[in-house]
Amino acid sequence: MTVSEADIVQCITQGGVVLLPTDTVLGLAVSPRHGAAIDRLYGLKHRPRDKNLPIMVADADDEIALRIPNDAQLLAVLRETGPLLVTSANRSGAQTPDTTNEAAALILGIETSCDDTSVALVDRSGHVAAIKTVSQYEVHEAFGGVYPELASRAHLEAILPTIQSVMDEASATPKDLTAIGVTRGPGLIGSLLVGLSTAEALSMGWGVPAYGVNHLRGHIRSVELEGGQTEFPAVIMLVSGGHTLIAELKDPWSYRLLGTTRDDSVGESYDKVARMLGLGMPGGPAIDRAAKLGRPVLRLPRPMKNEGYEFSFSGLKSSVARHIENHPEVSLEDMSASFVAACLDVLVAKADRALAECKPRSLVIVGGVSASPQLRDAMAQVADHHRVNLCLPPVKWATDNAAMIAMATWDYIERGVQPALFPKPNLSLETP
Ligand code: KG4
Ligand code: ZN
Repeated sequence: MTVSEADIVQCITQGGVVLLPTDTVLGLAVSPRHGAAIDRLYGLKHRPRDKNLPIMVADADDEIALRIPNDAQLLAVLRETGPLLVTSANRSGAQTPDTTNEAAALILGIETSCDDTSVALVDRSGHVAAIKTVSQYEVHEAFGGVYPELASRAHLEAILPTIQSVMDEASATPKDLTAIGVTRGPGLIGSLLVGLSTAEALSMGWGVPAYGVNHLRGHIRSVELEGGQTEFPAVIMLVSGGHTLIAELKDPWSYRLLGTTRDDSVGESYDKVARMLGLGMPGGPAIDRAAKLGRPVLRLPRPMKNEGYEFSFSGLKSSVARHIENHPEVSLEDMSASFVAACLDVLVAKADRALAECKPRSLVIVGGVSASPQLRDAMAQVADHHRVNLCLPPVKWATDNAAMIAMATWDYIERGVQPALFPKPNLSLETP
């Protein structure tokens, strides 16, 4: 099928995503406002050095790709972002789920907030029909942390093939989708933009509504994947690489933040301590394994253990650094065990306080660090003591993944809340 230049120009000037009269997904769509944001992001000091990025992918016709550069600004965006997504021209404008279509029973979840490109198909019961997560571990390894510009570009390369592979695995077509749910924040702006732009383009091309989803609420819903249930009211503890917070959830939608961290998150401390001990990335599982073989022989501080619901972990990390320097005789297993014991002591004290005060029916522990077996055991004891239900995600979905984003999307649909597909790097728990 040929596409005229007029079609393309019309699409660009109309606003919204670039739409072409074809059913073939050709690349990644960037709406003008997202394009401008990407341009701002990269236009200044972070311009990627590699200028040889593909302009279009898959079935793209070079001629088409070469005509688009008539629009200088779009070309600039294309050069920096790589492929543009081009979807079917049947812009149906459908923005609410078609509940009369019983075949449409799946949410396509898209998660690109940090360094994993994840796509999943999940039904209302939490059954994961297909999921694929592409890790960027090798991209960032040399930097000792996530390098934001490289993260967005790696998402761009991975996103469409990942969506395609998940749809193929579940033998799904757009007609099977109730909606698309995509992380809108918190996260890295460039990474979020890739997921949001893709979701917006697919939504328009496929005529399926798209919902911008709060990543934190995604983690909280991860306990409902594959049959889990949360009984309300619940106390939530989110312990991940980006966040540490404790909140009360009176019903599935009413969040009350009790406290968050003043500095490092728990996951960040695990990662930093792992690096100091030469254990590599990701630090959490490595520290866990070492800690299991050691004894908590060091007296480390328990920052803010006896004060309210706020956390602070940077002092604990510095204390570990001092001990490593001053006590080279202490094995890394004992160091790890001492560090884990201090972290858990603080987390357990806060959970215990919240359970006593809020008197919930469940304790929900989520986020990457909830994969820790030591944390799971410690929280099982607190929950048992207070006779509340302990809700944990399946270990494989404790860390960032799109299944949890898809699961959380059902809440948005049921509440009729459809946030704009615009990145919110600092989105808070209380905002949908
Ligand atoms: O939830 P997540 O994947 O990403 C964010 O939203 O931040 O959490 C990643 C964090 C990393 O800091 C990682 O070291 C930690 O979760 N983590 C663990 C374990 N698995 C991952 N921490 C302790 N024990 C684990 N088994
Ligand atoms: Zn996360």
